[in-house]
Amino acid sequence: MKEIQNLRVDYSGKILDIKKLDKNPINQFEVWFNELKTKDVIEPNAMILSTISKKNTINSRTVLLKNISDKGFVFYTNYESRKGEDINYCKNITAVFLWKKIERQVIIKGIANKISSKESKKYFDSRPRKSRIAAWASKQSRNLKNSDELIESFNFYNKKFKGKEIPLPGFWGGYLIEPSSIEFWQGRSSRMHDRILYEKKDNKWYVSKLYP
Ligand SMILES: Cc1cc2nc3c(=O)[nH]c(=O)nc-3n(C[C@H](O)[C@H](O)[C@H](O)COP(=O)(O)O)c2cc1C
Repeated sequence: MKEIQNLRVDYSGKILDIKKLDKNPINQFEVWFNELKTKDVIEPNAMILSTISKKNTINSRTVLLKNISDKGFVFYTNYESRKGEDINYCKNITAVFLWKKIERQVIIKGIANKISSKESKKYFDSRPRKSRIAAWASKQSRNLKNSDELIESFNFYNKKFKGKEIPLPGFWGGYLIEPSSIEFWQGRSSRMHDRILYEKKDNKWYVSKLYP
């Protein structure tokens, strides 16, 4: 595929002025996230989450950001999935947001901890009924013999919870990513991209610029 080497885009973003950014990167993330609302970006809350396995290999996959607070970033999943096992082994994670359309990338590094089941339940209850049944039906990341097995499992829980409140599965819930560093990347012309890195030391945020 020789043509791949000729694929290139010259970015056109405006200067990312370190002086104009919020002192707190979570607030700055919210500023960028809010700007996406008018940009027609599909699933701007999708992030590539990387975790470390017991074998010291790295597993990556997409998950959806579902909440931002002054503590950090929340996503939901099956705690017994491969990512759940990884986080159980090592809390260190990296999450990458790529907003290609507006030539921006954000890289969050931090630790992931389970949120309370009360908070998870609140979100779980807000999901469509079929998504809640699917959470019960999926033994996420484990071997599936064939699609029928999954359909049977879905039908089983659909019947079991018919006309009843669907409880929060004990194996399902949210993780809070508490950031230790956040990097904001803005594409600029001629590869002169701007990179601003926030790092947390002694509970304070420090900001610096990086070569592109
Ligand atoms: C756009 C998109 C959003 C996704 N969001 C989630 C999510 O929020 N939570 C989740 O558990 N899996 C989500 N997935 C599925 C994961 O990428 C992954 O397949 C699954 O969580 C199993 O990962 P694991 O085996 O590494 O634990 C999403 C996939 C895509 C493509």
